[in-house]
Amino acid sequence: MPEHTKIFAHRGSAGTHPENTMVSFEAALNAGADGLEFDVQLTKDQVPVVIHDETVNRTTNGKGWVKDLSYEELKTLDAGSWFDSTFSHATIPSLEELFQWASHNSMALNLELKSGLIRYQGIEKIVVDLIHTYHLEKRVIISSFNHYSLVEVHRLNPSIETAILFMEGLYEPWKYAKGIGASSLHCYLPVAVPELIQGAADAGTPVRPFTVNEEAHMRGLMRGGCAAIITDWPEKAVQIRSQTLE
Ligand code: G3P
Ligand code: MG
Repeated sequence: MPEHTKIFAHRGSAGTHPENTMVSFEAALNAGADGLEFDVQLTKDQVPVVIHDETVNRTTNGKGWVKDLSYEELKTLDAGSWFDSTFSHATIPSLEELFQWASHNSMALNLELKSGLIRYQGIEKIVVDLIHTYHLEKRVIISSFNHYSLVEVHRLNPSIETAILFMEGLYEPWKYAKGIGASSLHCYLPVAVPELIQGAADAGTPVRPFTVNEEAHMRGLMRGGCAAIITDWPEKAVQIRSQTLE
């Protein structure tokens, strides 16, 4: 295996825990993941919070758009029982809560800005400022399907790594990424074809495909020297990596 492939836990250990909650992030840390992937949006009162969907409907006992709820309202919601009743104490974390926790470990932090469907005016500056407050510039990778957001992050602080998210077979995406100041590629697994992995490697551009949950895909990408994988099952990935290394 040419390189040590990093393992990023998708929404934490989302295979075994309620996604995007502190208990899920803690599980990923305990599983030996190198990093976390998580999704960030803004509440009505502009607090950055960690949640995937634009509404709270699927992953909490509440209803409504994240953008229409105050942080105080959102914090009363149970973000664990939908997954399993044993997680009924889980809440939606604020980004600050996650950063405070992260100051006690050294995990890499892939922060996905969910600024595609809802524009969330000013989210880039709010997030960049918080990263600065916690001195996390060298640990955070900001990704987004909204590449305008990535350009804005890069303008605000070029020392923060940005990564383009994409789902389609872009041609030589490392060239496009470079053009907007992004230095890595976070692509949907089916488009992580050998030409892309090889071309990106030749260009020195890290590729971190999502969401890599099957053992065969994990092994293939690890053997191919992929920079990282983003997976719901970090524990399994850590085990497979140790076998693949043998
Ligand atoms: O960042 C990788 C992946 O999380 C992107 O898709 O919908 O799971 O946020 P999604
Ligand atoms: Mg995501």
